[in-house]
Amino acid sequence: MSIDRKILTLDEFTIQQLRAFPQATGELSSLLRDLGLAAKRVNVEVNKAGLVDILGDAGTTNVQGEDVKKLDVFANNQFMKVLQHGISCAGIASEELDDIVVFDDEISKNAKYVVMFDPLDGSGNIDVNISIGTIFGVYRRVSERGTLCSKEDFLQQGRNQVAAGYIVYGSSTMMVYATKRGVNGFTLDPSIGEFCLSHPDIKCPDFGNIYSVNHGNFFRYEKGVQDYITACQKKNKTNGGPYTQRYIGSMVADVHRSLIKGGIFMYPGTTDKPKGKLRLMYECNPFAYLVEMAGGKATNGKIPILDVQPTELHQREPLFIGSKGMMEELETYHKL
Ligand code: AHG
Repeated sequence: MSIDRKILTLDEFTIQQLRAFPQATGELSSLLRDLGLAAKRVNVEVNKAGLVDILGDAGTTNVQGEDVKKLDVFANNQFMKVLQHGISCAGIASEELDDIVVFDDEISKNAKYVVMFDPLDGSGNIDVNISIGTIFGVYRRVSERGTLCSKEDFLQQGRNQVAAGYIVYGSSTMMVYATKRGVNGFTLDPSIGEFCLSHPDIKCPDFGNIYSVNHGNFFRYEKGVQDYITACQKKNKTNGGPYTQRYIGSMVADVHRSLIKGGIFMYPGTTDKPKGKLRLMYECNPFAYLVEMAGGKATNGKIPILDVQPTELHQREPLFIGSKGMMEELETYHKL
């Protein structure tokens, strides 16, 4: 019997996916639902961010006598705790924390996955009401189940991710995640408090009309990058005119736009910071996996991001990501 209803919630969707694979254990589905729950909690606080002045600043006590935590610390704790209390995650690494956190209870020791996340990317934008986001990547652990997870479980190439995604807290809040079965986007319906499938089977258009880069750094970029940016401002190969430039300074929103509308996002190395700013494990890898699964490309200017062998948790990497055709155009200026 088929149920004739158009809207699927995140929970229903993950369970439906599971039904198609009777041999699956359901651990990944459960983990994705846990992440959705943490995202909903963070969303509530992000929506109240403008009230911080009347509720109290971070690190103080608010009018209800509660301790006010910085939003990124709050988000970090929500994602960490929900994964710790779930059944699927053996440990986490977070952009907010110096080292990995190993979950040492019996269920977690037997869990299949580890998760790396940036709990609140673009948090510098909170004060001015600009979209921010959470980014996550899920890896199958390489250490034996039943033991404590270890750093080698985390220092894996991005290509080993089994799922990756992001939540954008914006004009509406969306969760988008990829597995090898494709990329799907869910919009939070605040009236029922559920993420609902709104963007099934997302494909990144091969070309778009927008390039996204911090122009302030132009004279610090390598010549190949400068040449490409200059070409974007002239008669480009795609549409015969200049591309439009958009840069919010909040990667989740900038890459989300490129994924849906087509486009290219760049955070190149600069003369003073050759590795750029973005973190390989928490920012570049999850987006690279997701965009590749949607048919786009992601490189560090030399090799695919997903092939970079990490050596440390917090390492930075230049990032070029987006529509396949635009990435190929970039590569004619900035040789791989
Ligand atoms: P943060 O979380 O410290 O605000 O950093 C945000 C990241 C990323 O989301 C964004 O694309 C980039 O930093 C912006 O950096 P620039 O201001 O250097 O362009």
